[in-house]
Amino acid sequence: MCGIVGYIGFRNATPLIVDGLQRLEYRGYDSAGVAVLNDGRIDIRRDVGKLANLRGRIEADPIEGCIGIGHTRWATHGVPAERNAHPHISMDGDFVLVHNGIVENYLELREELAAEGVTFQSETDTEVIVQLIERFAKNGARGNLTEATRRAVQYLRGAHAIVVMSRLTPDELVAVRIGNAGGVAIGLGERENFVASDIPAILEHTRRMVFLDSGQIARVTTDSLDVQMLDGRAAAAAVHDVSWDPVSAAKGEYKHFMQKEIFEQARSLTDTIRGRVDFDHSQVHLPELNLTVEQARALSRVVTVACGTSYYSGLVGKFYIEQLARLNVEVDYGSEYRYRDPIIDAQTAILAITQSGETVDTLAALEEAREKGARLWSIVNAIGSQAMRLADGYISMNAGPEVGVASTKAFTASIVDQFLLALYLGQLRGTLKPEQLRQAIQDIARLPDLVGRTLETAEQIKELAGRLYHYRDFLFLGRGINYPIALEGALKLKEISYIHAEGYPAGEMKHGPIALIDEDMPVVTIALKDALYEKMISQIEQAKARGGRVIAVATAGDTYIGSKADDVLYVPETPPLLSPVVAVIPLQLLAYTIAVWRGADVDQPRNLAKSVTVE
Ligand code: AGP
Repeated sequence: MCGIVGYIGFRNATPLIVDGLQRLEYRGYDSAGVAVLNDGRIDIRRDVGKLANLRGRIEADPIEGCIGIGHTRWATHGVPAERNAHPHISMDGDFVLVHNGIVENYLELREELAAEGVTFQSETDTEVIVQLIERFAKNGARGNLTEATRRAVQYLRGAHAIVVMSRLTPDELVAVRIGNAGGVAIGLGERENFVASDIPAILEHTRRMVFLDSGQIARVTTDSLDVQMLDGRAAAAAVHDVSWDPVSAAKGEYKHFMQKEIFEQARSLTDTIRGRVDFDHSQVHLPELNLTVEQARALSRVVTVACGTSYYSGLVGKFYIEQLARLNVEVDYGSEYRYRDPIIDAQTAILAITQSGETVDTLAALEEAREKGARLWSIVNAIGSQAMRLADGYISMNAGPEVGVASTKAFTASIVDQFLLALYLGQLRGTLKPEQLRQAIQDIARLPDLVGRTLETAEQIKELAGRLYHYRDFLFLGRGINYPIALEGALKLKEISYIHAEGYPAGEMKHGPIALIDEDMPVVTIALKDALYEKMISQIEQAKARGGRVIAVATAGDTYIGSKADDVLYVPETPPLLSPVVAVIPLQLLAYTIAVWRGADVDQPRNLAKSVTVE
């Protein structure tokens, strides 16, 4: 995700902003920039790559001023390039801003502004905001930055965090928060004030902070703060005394990074989807895959290689690629694939799924496949990682840095990436009817909201975990596209709570596992209202008949299952192919809350590393 830092006071803003951005590096980015106001002039320095590049630019051509804004950008809309880096300046040079979030209606706004004679310098959605502010400053809000900004943001759809400044009013910053595109924290100093998207960026300067709520706009000067609702009503601005240390501050209001990353998934999935789906024309674009129509049509199969959670994601993706792109998919563990002398030819595509991009067994599988002439793809979260560089084409998860050892948001992002890949391959191979593509794109547009609604069941799950955390064994059962989710649910539980848990295809119960079931082994089942629902109900009855305690992940509105299972965790009705993304959320929350009840070290579980770079 992107980072924002602003400063207004008596010191030179430039180094304070760049140092603040450095403290947000854990969020990941691929370009950065700073703008400062100096004697009626806006000076901007931007660069792609790490902050060191930006620092080099500034050392070579210094800028200074007592008011400034800065930004680290994680490119999803518009490639990583200096022209697309923030801050973005208005056409007449009067206004400059930084922005986190998505202007979902940027296409129409861009056309509208262009028709008014506005010329754009970037491919970003962000730039339409600063051009809108300039439009309103010229029409009725001249000299009033707050009012011009207020009017402009009324036109935006989506979630936003914005900080803007103007050479016309060089004594103020204006900040806005709409929805959940990252926070806006205002740090209160002595004759100076700060604005940041995250606490760590400004914690060394002040611990007195005001956090904007969604729908609030703030005017910040060197010695004042005025917070209002966007509709003009006054807003309370409670001052918090933040006592966190920088590391804990990076967790924000969360107790663990894993908790934060679970709750980020509605937003991180928006980032995964953003810029890749043309909703107006029902098309998917994956330019980083570097794949032509001829190459796509020549493919005969896909072999997915991955480890751990990423392997389970590949099992879900098999359904997508086979059903939507009509390509045979084989899924294998990286650690197994590299030793079985696999059959590979030029019509084989190897898909490596790896959050870290550095997992040694997955990389070895890629190397093996490359030597045998396969086309290499990777789905990675860590930009610049080996798996990304090795591949002929890649798809970024765009989930933002995942700090917790137990993978959550990267898992759901990698599933969505495979859905996008399957649609893209289907487009290129002509295996998808236009209506199928249109429907799939409408379905994926709903996903972040469905995930957000599922996260609202967290309190119920925390209460259930309080009744389950003492058990020593769990069984997780699923069928079809949700069988991999049973595997993932078991892995989440075992790796952070150290409880023995195993996932099984529900239809396999009678072939062994049913011998295990008794009152000391809770059985977690995924029993959504899909084509396999009746089979799952039958499995639940068999488990109950052996004294098992059954927890069911079920579809909202299913009142029948409550008469069968001991506990029911409801998720919103979801298009079947995308149901794994929603069904896994309660299992992530269950594993997390059980581990917390057990006092486990959630973010750094014993014996585990975030990336297994050695065999
Ligand atoms: C998942 O929660 C674990 N941390 C682990 O299984 C992980 O998924 C596996 O090591 C693969 O990591 P990667 O995605 O970075 O390759």
